[in-house]
Amino acid sequence: MDRIKIIGGEQLNGIIPISGAKNAALPLMIASLLTDDVLTLEDVPHLADVEQLIRILGNHGVDYSVNGRREHQDGVYSRTVHFTARNIVTTTAPYDLVAKMRASFWVIGPLLAREGEATVSLPGGCAIGTRPVDFILDGLRALGADITIDNGYVHARAPKGLKGAEYHFPKVTVGGTHVMLMAASLAKGETVLRNAACEPEVVNLAECLNDMGAQITGAGTPEIRIKGAKSLSGARVRVIPDRIETGTYAMAVAMTGGDVLLKGADPRQLEVVLQTLRQTGTQIEEEAEGIRIRRNSNAITPVDISTEPFPGFPTDLQAQFMGLMTRANGTAKITETVFENRFMHVQELARLGARISLSGQTATIEGVERLKGAQVMATDLRASVALVIAGLAAEGETTVNRVYHLDRGFERLEEKLSACGANIERISG
Ligand code: EPZ
Repeated sequence: MDRIKIIGGEQLNGIIPISGAKNAALPLMIASLLTDDVLTLEDVPHLADVEQLIRILGNHGVDYSVNGRREHQDGVYSRTVHFTARNIVTTTAPYDLVAKMRASFWVIGPLLAREGEATVSLPGGCAIGTRPVDFILDGLRALGADITIDNGYVHARAPKGLKGAEYHFPKVTVGGTHVMLMAASLAKGETVLRNAACEPEVVNLAECLNDMGAQITGAGTPEIRIKGAKSLSGARVRVIPDRIETGTYAMAVAMTGGDVLLKGADPRQLEVVLQTLRQTGTQIEEEAEGIRIRRNSNAITPVDISTEPFPGFPTDLQAQFMGLMTRANGTAKITETVFENRFMHVQELARLGARISLSGQTATIEGVERLKGAQVMATDLRASVALVIAGLAAEGETTVNRVYHLDRGFERLEEKLSACGANIERISG
């Protein structure tokens, strides 16, 4: 199994190109199931999760081809991928595929809407909490689906098609909003979603569905209206830049010091995060080409945060921010409100010398002057990258094991960081 070896202590200086967003690419790819025409996506990141979803979609009959993969002078890859679901060959998504990636459960929306039926394995537990799908199923029921659960599978049926309806999400859910947008786009009449997720990835999907022929208004606000179409056509859509990758590298620079341009990053996607980083003493400038992050040798000021749905501080940056706070000049409190069990990185950060105590959903981090390299590993993607950030600032050698978590969501992480002066390498085997 590959590992990442880091010798800490180097500042980061240079340019880091920001890739297309994993969490936007996945639902956009799933939307290809809604049409027999070609859906072309630009800036699809090259990640293990994307490859896995390609396999899952292939099971349903989606063909794909990749072109436009060219390396620009500054090292940015741009991958254009064409997806075509000419015929749906099966409406069943089996356990062994869904269990590998939770987002694959979302195929239930387009399969049900286009074929009138779907049988999808329940996604099961996951390292960051129980993550049920109850609101997704209630939403589909509101559209007229008949849903039963049997032997770990959800059977959804709507032989006469789905019908527009009103649905109020009891809790903000990104995946639930994606599924309802896709399903309602092929439903008869109008659907109104209340308490919908406002994440930029939802807006990216809604714009794609509009280009395919749906009529969606209000995406990016808690109330979304969708007028369904009889059938949807193909479209060509660009995946938005990855705001979590952007925030991660911004925190890495805040941690090590230095001066890095995050090329292609969109500051509107992470205003709260940038504001929080400014409070820590990091300089942030919005430039035409992206976001510049700078920190000199001044101390890192502690800042308390609480994770919230968009536009609040994202849960997907909580672990990385905790990494940064381990070196703060004082004590910070981090409260996780989105997932009930997303603090597994605490123990591993402690191996590097961090002082963190946990009480319920709140972590108290007492900043230390020095972290010291060690062997660490993490159980999820964002936790793993938090350990990388800490390792970049730790004295001596840090080895991050289970690198496959990083490969799920960070494109060419070690290349991007070493190009800016980090002493980081992948050790194969
Ligand atoms: C998406 O997951 C992201 N995944 C997650 O990123 C992200 O952490 C999360 O949104 C929150 O921003 C993708 O986009 C592929 P939710 P999702 O439904 O949609 C509860 C990463 O590292 N809930 O918004 O699955 C749920 O348990 C990943 O890239 C229900 O109770 O998250 C959670 O507490 C990790 N019932 C909360 O809502 C439901 O039916 C928010 O989850 C659905 C959700």
